[in-house]
Amino acid sequence: MSVTTKKLPKRQFDVVIVGAGGSGMRAALQMSRAGLSVAVLSKVFPTRSHTVAAQGGIGASLGNMSEDSWEWHFYDTVKGSDWLGDQDAIEFMCRQAPAAVYELEHFGMPFDRNADGTIYQRPFGGHTANHGEKPVQRACAAADRTGHALLHTLYQQNVKAHTNFFVEWMALDLIRDADGDVVGVTAMELETGDIYVLEAKATLLATGGAGRVFQASTNAFINTGDGLGMVARAGIPLQDMEFWQFHPTGVAGAGVLLTEGCRGEGAILINSEGERFMERYAPTLKDLAPRDFVSRSMDQEIKEGRGCGPNKDYVLLKLDHLGAETIHKRLPSVFEIGLNFANVDITKEPIPVVPTIHYQMGGIPTNVNGQVVVPDGQGNQKVVNGLYAVGECSCVSVHGANRLGTNSLLDLVVFGRSAGNHMVDLCKQTRSHKDLPADAADAALARVAHLDQSTGGEYAQNVANDIRQCMQTHAGVFRTQAKMDEGVKEIMKIAERVPGITLKDKSMVWNTARMEALEVENLIEVAKATMLSAAARHECRGAHSVDDYERPADDPDHPLGRNDQEWLKHTLWFSEDNHLEYKPVRMQPLTVPTVPPKPRTF
Ligand code: FUM
Repeated sequence: MSVTTKKLPKRQFDVVIVGAGGSGMRAALQMSRAGLSVAVLSKVFPTRSHTVAAQGGIGASLGNMSEDSWEWHFYDTVKGSDWLGDQDAIEFMCRQAPAAVYELEHFGMPFDRNADGTIYQRPFGGHTANHGEKPVQRACAAADRTGHALLHTLYQQNVKAHTNFFVEWMALDLIRDADGDVVGVTAMELETGDIYVLEAKATLLATGGAGRVFQASTNAFINTGDGLGMVARAGIPLQDMEFWQFHPTGVAGAGVLLTEGCRGEGAILINSEGERFMERYAPTLKDLAPRDFVSRSMDQEIKEGRGCGPNKDYVLLKLDHLGAETIHKRLPSVFEIGLNFANVDITKEPIPVVPTIHYQMGGIPTNVNGQVVVPDGQGNQKVVNGLYAVGECSCVSVHGANRLGTNSLLDLVVFGRSAGNHMVDLCKQTRSHKDLPADAADAALARVAHLDQSTGGEYAQNVANDIRQCMQTHAGVFRTQAKMDEGVKEIMKIAERVPGITLKDKSMVWNTARMEALEVENLIEVAKATMLSAAARHECRGAHSVDDYERPADDPDHPLGRNDQEWLKHTLWFSEDNHLEYKPVRMQPLTVPTVPPKPRTF
């Protein structure tokens, strides 16, 4: 064992989980309850994880308020994904949704209630009855604080089940042995700056999204793609990273999320002429069309000069007609956000909104058990032993090219549970830990030492700001081939600056500058993956909308637009040499017929 690795303190668990959001905590609960020793690492206190910011609801076809079925949910999710979602995984998720929600209810999650005691459900974008006929009430809600309620419920259950929390710890790198198996992680205790080796039979990445790679984002500052950086550095590809969701209603200028639940409750979007413009773009679902559709329509209104405000650069979300009582009962946080971030009383006047980065559809490739999968060189996928990923950092893939609202919280609990079950079986079958490689921590130690010895370079924040600026400019709601090609060149140049980042403050105790510098090493992997994958995809699909490939509105048979013949496939990006590979979309569901691709109208 090398001197450096040998000197480090070590801890051993059955399972180490990186991230304490909804997916990490749901998986942890499954395993702690089965008697495994489980460590959960988090940069922040668990109940401050970004899941807490999810507002509007969790999707499940309970049918409490209007007729519904899991098959309709399945159909909407496939169509919402613009056919890039794997239909077997989508069926797996939608079928399990009602049981997953009732399980949360039994854990004590405080859902809103109907008069008959059943869980309150509101309509949400892209969720329909009978294959697109009309909106359906499928979003199970706790006011507009559903993620908050879910996260607190899971935390309390985990405390009861004796899960070990490592609060204010940052994972640095995966440890892979000579067989390529993952045997743990290196991690830094932020309070002391000390680095540890955490050994595990299974390692689960649940690090959430990387939305802080963009300038304007609904994401928390912690969302820097740490899990994605760790796998990219370990030689594992990232899947479908060209697909980023813009949420239609970020507060203009502030980025803070105003839940789609507003429109679920009846709010509407209007332009400078006071027109409810979504009626033109989506005659059936109107303001409740899927997010990629609504965001593009908003940007189109702004581009065509019907934006509001002095610079005509936002549209308005109008809620006053819902009445103050409904707003305070169903949307209390939205009311507060309006006052605090826009100085607007939404019970009286409309609030300025713009599409804002919200969610990554791509991530670490997995199967439905959360096992990370990679190409085997012969056209198939093989499992990386010991490594799992769930939640927004993973790509299973149920969201394809565009996620439906409420399917994120659902994804967390359904796949958190199934990954947990799989690791319980694995740990019960595996008596002892594999040996740690001699150089287990060398890569992480070298990265930290490089920063600690740095002199005269530039601040991490300068590099991070340039990454964000580049992404915002070159990978926005509307893309062009030229912009993406320029973006690739720019991001590769910025990547060359990352090794030159300097740490002026080299102190050990709670050194947030060191943490931010390490985060930039993760952000740059996410940015490269996004730009390269996007520039290579020569079509429009879901959130990837490229002017050059847009189908003319008056010619539905024009060959441009979504190109299923050439592009009905997943992208895999490899960090080592920035090469791209592709793998087929799984079109065969588990028990029901395939939903064949067709034009996506609402
Ligand atoms: O609009 C929202 O409440 C966000 C929900 C989601 O992203 O699923």
